[in-house]
Amino acid sequence: MTAVGIDAIEIWTGKLMLDLPNTFAPVKGDDPEKYTKGLGLYASSFPDTYEDIVTMGANAAKQLMDRHDLKPADIGRIDVATESAFDHSKPVSTYIAGCLEQVYEGDFRHANKGERKFACVAGTQSIDDAYNWIQAGRNRGRAALVIATDTALYARGDPGEATQGAGAVAMLIDEDPSVVELSTEQGYGSMDETDFLKPNQQFPSVDGKRSMQVYLARMREALEDFESVAWDTHPDDFAYIPFHTPFPGMVRKAGLLGFRHMIRDTEIEDELEGEIGRQPREPDFETREDYEAAIRDHMDDLKRTDQYRAWYDATIEPTLELSSTVGNWYTGSVHIARVSALRHGAETGADLVGSKLLVGSYGSGAQAEIHAETVQDGWKDEIEGLNIDEQLDARYDLSWGEYELVHDVHEYDKETDIDVEEFTPPSEEFVFTGWGRMNERRYEYVE
Ligand code: CAA
Repeated sequence: MTAVGIDAIEIWTGKLMLDLPNTFAPVKGDDPEKYTKGLGLYASSFPDTYEDIVTMGANAAKQLMDRHDLKPADIGRIDVATESAFDHSKPVSTYIAGCLEQVYEGDFRHANKGERKFACVAGTQSIDDAYNWIQAGRNRGRAALVIATDTALYARGDPGEATQGAGAVAMLIDEDPSVVELSTEQGYGSMDETDFLKPNQQFPSVDGKRSMQVYLARMREALEDFESVAWDTHPDDFAYIPFHTPFPGMVRKAGLLGFRHMIRDTEIEDELEGEIGRQPREPDFETREDYEAAIRDHMDDLKRTDQYRAWYDATIEPTLELSSTVGNWYTGSVHIARVSALRHGAETGADLVGSKLLVGSYGSGAQAEIHAETVQDGWKDEIEGLNIDEQLDARYDLSWGEYELVHDVHEYDKETDIDVEEFTPPSEEFVFTGWGRMNERRYEYVE
């Protein structure tokens, strides 16, 4: 079978930031460590007044096309994944193609464009669509451009407000990829759930605590489903395990569950037996409650073991670095976790070619997907070519009052009434310029 996967990646962060321990926590009257230690978040990215899902997606895509010297004719498909769309009919991909056509010769007239929706898992689903299109031989030698772009805003005062974020990840999906090859095997955990949804409303209705349980349950099912078609996973199988990261604390919980699952009936469980005992098995308990209580106690012990700490520090923690400073990017979140991991590999001089990643995506509503990826020999050049650190350093640090204004600017019901000056001067990027006669959004490229 043809090798298909991610050939190129670019990231565009919203150009503003909210400092959680120093700006958000004092206003909320919270201990800053609730955010830094509890949720694992230091800052969130926000879009400037002229940024939105189209500009961030188009800017990420332009960086990708420029860096790889691509022309519109090289691209046969543009899929945008978002849960922040502002139009029920016209897909964001048409707007992004329109932006790119302003600056490149040629057009995307013969490219298939679409928009994918299933909360945060849609970015991975768009990669699937591209994978299938290429494997089916329908791509005519062209690559697919997948863009995951979101402004993840919550209503002011919602518990989710601390986990906001905004940014876009553009990925080129192609044959013989340079960064990672995707496994054919995939696992799914999918159930009709009411954990997080936006029924014709901009900001989500969230049952936060339930959403965390649903995330863990669907991830576990997806891992079991993956193992049923791939192999019984072992902690040593993977260089990194990038997971959807609504906030790093969520992945900490998933990591511990995943480790417990992977070590069951292995030499690691044998090694730990003397220290913390074997894992509780349900048939040994009279009631489900007793079993669950024993599991909770066992997990508390497991997370303190050297074996778990070393695995977590090497395999999970590096995936969280970017998320901890940009917040939740919804559809882009798992894809920045992958970049974060590979960036750690580049910084530490790791030889990753041929190594495997286990990638776990999750969308509320709810569905998890897990697949493996094999790192390819162009990964290092691609990751070292990113300018994400410069972008993060250049973000404008919002005061609380400015944050409130920015939140209002991006609230659809309020935006026409508010005139707020930009915080950063746009340069060499697409910007939102206002509405046209049919209420369409309009964009231009600023030199
Ligand atoms: N020092 C250290 N830790 C502290 C602390 C302190 N001073 N104060 C609190 N903490 C810890 C808490 O113990 C808790 O950790 P544990 O869960 O390990 O116990 C953590 O900080 C968060 O504290 P709370 O639970 O009190 O926080 P909260 O109730 O205000 O909100 C939340 C947490 C429910 C996740 C909320 O942020 C939320 O609703 N977020 C949006 C929903 C979400 O992200 N869900 C994740 C799964 S759904 C998904 O993945 C899809 C998606 O992208 C949205």
